[in-house]
Amino acid sequence: MKKIFIGLLIVLVAIQFIHPSKNLSGDTQKDISTLYPMPDSVQVIVNKACADCHSNKTNYPWYSKIQPVDFWLENHVKDGKRHFNFNEFASYRIGKQNKKLEECIEQIKEGEMPLSSYTLIHKEAILTEAEKNILTNWYQKIVDTIHANYPADSLKLKGRNPKPNEAK
Ligand code: HEC
Repeated sequence: MKKIFIGLLIVLVAIQFIHPSKNLSGDTQKDISTLYPMPDSVQVIVNKACADCHSNKTNYPWYSKIQPVDFWLENHVKDGKRHFNFNEFASYRIGKQNKKLEECIEQIKEGEMPLSSYTLIHKEAILTEAEKNILTNWYQKIVDTIHANYPADSLKLKGRNPKPNEAK
């Protein structure tokens, strides 16, 4: 028993020296605002509630220095960015832009985003109804603009057929 405990302790100490690379580039050359100007009222909400996981720059809390917290945290950032990145939005094809914005609206309305594990600590990221409306109205306006300018056919995503009961 004692040996197991000491073994665990050694592992715990050892992993303190391993840290995945951080999301700090802050590159905004392809930011969504280069296509669709983002009002300050929207920017403030995105910054506090979404940007840590969906942009090229994360504000790391002090406890990100502690392992295995950092592994867990970095995983969320990587996963979040892979799905959707405000700072890379302008590089998406129009169909993908449309889809991601529609997903944003859905995720916010259903209360799926920001992740509850995030709002547990970042209380300021819990969105009020008014804040949800500001965000979703802005996304909807862009979706409407896209639909007004592109035929429905050109917005279809090719080669991506989510299974009917794909876990979300
Ligand atoms: C703590 C990190 C975190 C925060 C904060 C966060 N997200 Fe996410 N988001 C993720 C992760 C991880 C995924 C992918 C896994 C999943 O869907 O749960 C994701 C998925 C998404 C998706 C789905 C994209 C797809 O391809 O299915 C959208 C849209 C999204 N987030 C929008 C938002 C918006 C808008 C906010 C702010 C209101 C936000 N997220 C806040 C981590 C985060």
